[in-house]
Amino acid sequence: MRNVNALAIAISLPLAALAAESGKADRPVTFTKDVAPIFQKHCQSCHHSGTSAPMSLMTYNEARPWARSIKERVVRRDMPPWHLDKTVGIRHYKNDRSMSDDDIATVARWVDTGAAQGNPADMPPALTFPPDSEWFIGKPDLLVTTDQDFAMYPSGPDWWIDQFGEVKMPEDRWIKAMEIKPSNAKIVHHAVVYAIEPDAPEGTPEGGVMLHEFAVGKYGDIFSDNTGRLLKAGTRLRFDMHYFAVGSEQHNKTTIAFKFYSKGEVPKYQVRSIPIRNVPNDELDIPPNTVVRTDGYFRLPRNARIDAFQPHMHMRGRGMTLEAINLNNTTTILSSVDHFNFNWHINYIYSDDVTPLMPAGTVLHMIGIHDNTAANPRNPDPNMWAGFGERSVDDMVQVWLDVVYLDDAEYNKLVAERKAKSSLISRKQ
Ligand code: HEC
Repeated sequence: MRNVNALAIAISLPLAALAAESGKADRPVTFTKDVAPIFQKHCQSCHHSGTSAPMSLMTYNEARPWARSIKERVVRRDMPPWHLDKTVGIRHYKNDRSMSDDDIATVARWVDTGAAQGNPADMPPALTFPPDSEWFIGKPDLLVTTDQDFAMYPSGPDWWIDQFGEVKMPEDRWIKAMEIKPSNAKIVHHAVVYAIEPDAPEGTPEGGVMLHEFAVGKYGDIFSDNTGRLLKAGTRLRFDMHYFAVGSEQHNKTTIAFKFYSKGEVPKYQVRSIPIRNVPNDELDIPPNTVVRTDGYFRLPRNARIDAFQPHMHMRGRGMTLEAINLNNTTTILSSVDHFNFNWHINYIYSDDVTPLMPAGTVLHMIGIHDNTAANPRNPDPNMWAGFGERSVDDMVQVWLDVVYLDDAEYNKLVAERKAKSSLISRKQ
């Protein structure tokens, strides 16, 4: 309908009016009117002063010198960091910070047409960010801080190191929310915290199971209603830290904060973190100058709801896909990361109305792609063989899933609710 109207206007109006009609496309793109709102939505949570991001993008004067680099990163979809192939699998994520094609085009046009400021009166009111001292999740019930201070040299390559902290509490508790804060965020690119449980079942990775991750711009995670994860008394936490040098010696300790359900309260939906990897792990074989595919499988022992997907690879990691092999032998792609970047550990959290619901027996299939050629910009040395290992120059292939197991009654209920909702939506259209 709309296209037909546009066509009628195009035929009947003189050219000048036509330009006015099509609006934004033909008026100059300016920072204050067009770009600042996009930066507020997609960039400034990380790019404001005092964070580890390399520059602030709050004002025109701060952003202007970076225009060329901004266009490059945005068009390549390197910034904001969100590495999913948006054309396949599940499309809705709670923490999606990616940009629409329109917004990308606007930023590119702004740069291509001279990166003008525009009328200062068009500038939207400035955003404010919570002070570093504040916990986004609210007042924590428990804080666990790394035992040892870490000193980072003034200059040199990035540094990856494990630090540890102990969970000291008398009994197991159900986690409602978690948040990680380094004491010196300027030098911390990321922190991933793993739980090494006192009585972990056989086959659990030695380094523990994924608990939570931090990177600049991230302010904690709060579980959905009646959903939580068990933190066992006596758990040891492994903080997998990525530091970078900033020109002077710097120190850091990292703290993870927990909010719990009240004592004795047990959430109905219990999240566990499940890794899928190629077993045994030392089979990972990435010869020099090759692109290698590795597969891993996990058969769901019970009905399940999958809440989140987090690929884990190192520098040669290029892509990872998770698909379900259904009981009727069809396959469904759940999520696919097509431009993985080891600098970022992103947990892709499915929106509540699209979390995959899978019956017991469904096989989850992980496909990892490592690129050990010179075409991979993060490859430290394409002429070197790589295999499984903890060091960042070694590699890994594994996906962490947040899984909630469901009994038959609960599973059938959720499937029925989902069906009812989707038929409601299709009737509205
Ligand atoms: C989640 C936090 C985060 C968000 C959101 C984010 N950035 Fe970044 N950005 C970073 C960090 C950290 C770096 C430096 C490390 C890296 O490149 O991974 C960076 C690097 C960059 C660089 C490269 C700077 C250089 O040194 O050349 C540009 C340009 C950039 N960001 C632009 C943007 C723009 C534009 C947006 C929004 C459209 C954006 N970023 C959103 C965190 C973020």
